[in-house]
Amino acid sequence: MGKGVTLPKWLVIAACIIFVGGMVAVGLCVYYLAPPPPGSEVTTDTTSTVTETTTQTDMTTTTLRPPGDINYRLPRHFSPILYTVRLLPIIEEGNFTIFGDVTIDMVCNENTNHIVLHINDMDVHQETIKVSGEGLEGMMVHHTSFDQITQFFTIHLSGELKAGMQLSLSMSYLAKLNDILGGFYRSSYFDVNGNRRYIATTQFQPTDARRAFPCFDEPNFKARFAITLGRKKDMTSISNMPINRTVPHENMPDYEWDIYEESVPMSTYLVAFVISDFVKNPAPNAGETEVAVWSRPGAEEQTRYATNITSTVLEYFEEFFQIPYPLPKQDMIAIPDFGAGAMENWGLITYRETAVLYQPGVSSAQNKQRVAVVIAHELAHQWFGNLVTTDWWDLLWLNEGFATYLEFKGVDRVEPEMKMEQQYLNDAIHYVMQLDGLNSSHPMIMPANNPDEINELFDPIAYEKSGSVLRMMEDFLGLEVLKEGLTNYLNNRTYDTATADVLWEFLGDTATKYSVDLNGLTVKDILDTWSLQKNFPVVKVERNPENYTEITVSQKRFISAQFEGAEEYYWHVPLTFIQDFSNNSSLKRRWLSNSSEPAVYTDIIDEPNSWIICNHKVFGYYRVDYDEINWDLIQVQLQTNHTKIDVMNRAQIVDDALNLASADYLNQTYKRAMDLTSYLKNEFDWLPWETADNNFDRLRNLLSGTEAGALLNVCLLKI
Ligand SMILES: *[C@@H]1O[C@H](CO)[C@@H](O)[C@H](O)[C@H]1NC(C)=O
Ligand SMILES: *[C@@H]1O[C@H](CO)[C@@H](O)[C@H](O)[C@H]1NC(C)=O
Ligand SMILES: *[C@@H]1O[C@H](CO)[C@@H](O)[C@H](O)[C@H]1NC(C)=O
Ligand SMILES: *[C@@H]1O[C@H](CO)[C@@H](O)[C@H](O)[C@H]1NC(C)=O
Ligand SMILES: *[C@@H]1O[C@H](CO)[C@@H](O)[C@H](O)[C@H]1NC(C)=O
Ligand SMILES: *[C@@H]1O[C@H](CO)[C@@H](O)[C@H](O)[C@H]1NC(C)=O
Ligand SMILES: *[C@@H]1O[C@H](CO)[C@@H](O)[C@H](O)[C@H]1NC(C)=O
Ligand SMILES: *[C@@H]1O[C@H](CO)[C@@H](O)[C@H](O)[C@H]1NC(C)=O
Ligand SMILES: *[C@@H]1O[C@H](CO)[C@@H](O)[C@H](O)[C@H]1NC(C)=O
Ligand SMILES: *[C@@H]1O[C@H](CO)[C@@H](O)[C@H](O)[C@H]1NC(C)=O
Ligand SMILES: *[C@@H]1O[C@H](CO)[C@@H](O)[C@H](O)[C@H]1NC(C)=O
Ligand SMILES: [Zn+2]
Repeated sequence: MGKGVTLPKWLVIAACIIFVGGMVAVGLCVYYLAPPPPGSEVTTDTTSTVTETTTQTDMTTTTLRPPGDINYRLPRHFSPILYTVRLLPIIEEGNFTIFGDVTIDMVCNENTNHIVLHINDMDVHQETIKVSGEGLEGMMVHHTSFDQITQFFTIHLSGELKAGMQLSLSMSYLAKLNDILGGFYRSSYFDVNGNRRYIATTQFQPTDARRAFPCFDEPNFKARFAITLGRKKDMTSISNMPINRTVPHENMPDYEWDIYEESVPMSTYLVAFVISDFVKNPAPNAGETEVAVWSRPGAEEQTRYATNITSTVLEYFEEFFQIPYPLPKQDMIAIPDFGAGAMENWGLITYRETAVLYQPGVSSAQNKQRVAVVIAHELAHQWFGNLVTTDWWDLLWLNEGFATYLEFKGVDRVEPEMKMEQQYLNDAIHYVMQLDGLNSSHPMIMPANNPDEINELFDPIAYEKSGSVLRMMEDFLGLEVLKEGLTNYLNNRTYDTATADVLWEFLGDTATKYSVDLNGLTVKDILDTWSLQKNFPVVKVERNPENYTEITVSQKRFISAQFEGAEEYYWHVPLTFIQDFSNNSSLKRRWLSNSSEPAVYTDIIDEPNSWIICNHKVFGYYRVDYDEINWDLIQVQLQTNHTKIDVMNRAQIVDDALNLASADYLNQTYKRAMDLTSYLKNEFDWLPWETADNNFDRLRNLLSGTEAGALLNVCLLKI
């Protein structure tokens, strides 16, 4: 999913500080534009209600289960192969009934006399449930039961299914086009005459495919999907695949069936369909893949930017991954009511309008950048997430981290003047460090079982922190090694799922092939210290006052509000040092091991009387503090000729100094930070100013109305 950021970040951050009073709330404000996950009222119950329906008598019995460890994972008795789904929604005010039929072709893996799958908010017609297949003549449905907590629908059979059997399970049901922005839902807009027009659309990630059709609704039950959609003749439908043919409805003269091509194997959460009266805007110069952006009538012009850039970004990722986009087309659609920023459904990406529509002369430059970023994010998912999917939601960070990391590369291809690599620093790294510097942060990998826990995972740790850690990996592996390892991984796991450990293996093999220095560790050893632990380190670089060529480097957990007895964490830190940004070969790399033990280096410094800067272009996900001597040298350089220091490292110095001061790591606290940042009066680059602006805003909010606040304003006006 794409994130839902629409407000300027400083505003969101300021608003959260003022009105909510906690930095954790930033994540919630930004990501939870979506409604509370459906069904949340059910899970506050401590007992589970199981409703049993016996087909013959229609008698319903309700049994109570004691609270305790509830297993939300489906049994693995079956593997679905093909879903044939036929849906006809009535899209009329007052009647949003969905008529549904599903047939699931599947293989039985273990002998069993019942079938368990997911449903939510639907009425299955008991008498239509059928199990068929070779040797299954006479197999009857004995009764069914439904557990509201786990959303398990269990079909108890009159006999046993045997491992290895192929069977088809089919049923008909009624559901409703809901208004909760999840499952198969309705959205509306006002046409030029002021009339309200409804459309029917979907949002399944993470656990809402089960609201549209009965299914094995977990990412590692991949199957093919053959979708058929019923619609009124004056509307159109789109889905993941192209339409194969359209036929009249048997007994509803105003309706037709659109029968779609069978999809590639994919997870249920990636299925999508939309029925609307929208306009199709084809991309002008699409390549192999047909690209179009759909919008409500009247917004056609605003799709131009998206249609302009999509094919180029798509081709960029084909080249990046060395794997062609596997579907014949890529539709994108601007949905008037949408919970997240966008959703990467394979071949049919859905967007909230502000994340894809752009009107030249009206929309801001920031709007344009957001459109480019969200498009690149969703297109990256077509490989990383769709082609190869993480095995379970606890690895969401890998999926979202890669899409976030690749966003700026995709945009860079079409909009180099946006300088996305530089912007990544404030938009992702510095932004998430504000949250991840809190003791209440959490590791990238998080256990999640029920839908509420899964929905909670879509936060800045999963997006921006993971993306930043992956960008750090690019730097210590090398971009070409990373790409080759990724390609091998994707080719190996195509149309399947994988875990992070599988990816680390492939990257490790490639690193070995090219003799990359990993300090004798595996990629997993290194990445585990970043993904399994919350927070990040502050690296302290100290020059020996007796001998400036010698440096001592150590690490400490960074916490923005330090407290007695805080647990220490240690990371495998890839260090980079530079003394001359105009000379690439003066860049030096070292590994700092995961302990409190400092490392002493005598072979890093070439120029004893010149500054040294650690964390070249902020590839590393950590802050850096120096001793007084080196801070002084940096300060003098900034004052005399700041352009000798790379613009990303200037922004790094601003952010690190102000945050180390605020968290009380910096020896001279705010004096040092204000002395360092006073160089900004000479700064003409956007990036360090944006960094400073974000930080000074926080400071001004803290000091607002105080004497110190007034002095701060004087100081800021001066620079
Ligand atoms: C909705 O429309 C369908 C098809 O016309 C009809 O069968 C059904 O009874 C209607 N439901 C309601 C609640 O009006
Ligand atoms: C539609 O499906 C049929 C049967 O699978 C196939 O033979 C035919 O080529 C398809 N038509 C189109 C237009 O894709
Ligand atoms: C789309 O591309 C065309 C041709 O390159 C260009 O003239 C036009 O300004 C672009 N439109 C937008 C909205 O970027
Ligand atoms: C810090 O977080 C840990 C959990 O990781 C918790 O046990 C501890 O109480 C927290 N300390 C403070 C001071 O918030
Ligand atoms: C994937 O990689 C594993 C381990 O390297 C190998 O055993 C397996 O055959 C590969 N599978 C495919 C489909 O390439
Ligand atoms: C350091 O990393 C190694 C290898 O990853 C691990 O075995 C060890 O437990 C770690 N030590 C600490 C103090 O975290
Ligand atoms: C340093 O390396 C970068 C990336 O490889 C390259 O773009 C740049 O031109 C090099 N700079 C110098 C001064 O060699
Ligand atoms: C670049 O740095 C390398 C390594 O520090 C050094 O040997 C070389 O003399 C430097 N080149 C220039 C032109 O300063
Ligand atoms: C400083 O340290 C370096 C490296 O250890 C050494 O070669 C040099 O002699 C030392 N200089 C002084 C003045 O001690
Ligand atoms: C400042 O440094 C830049 C980059 O090294 C250099 O091009 C410029 O000439 C320097 N300016 C002055 C006034 O020394
Ligand atoms: C802190 O800064 C003061 C003032 O420059 C200096 O005297 C002192 O040695 C510094 N302390 C440390 C631990 O660097
Ligand atoms: Zn995403």
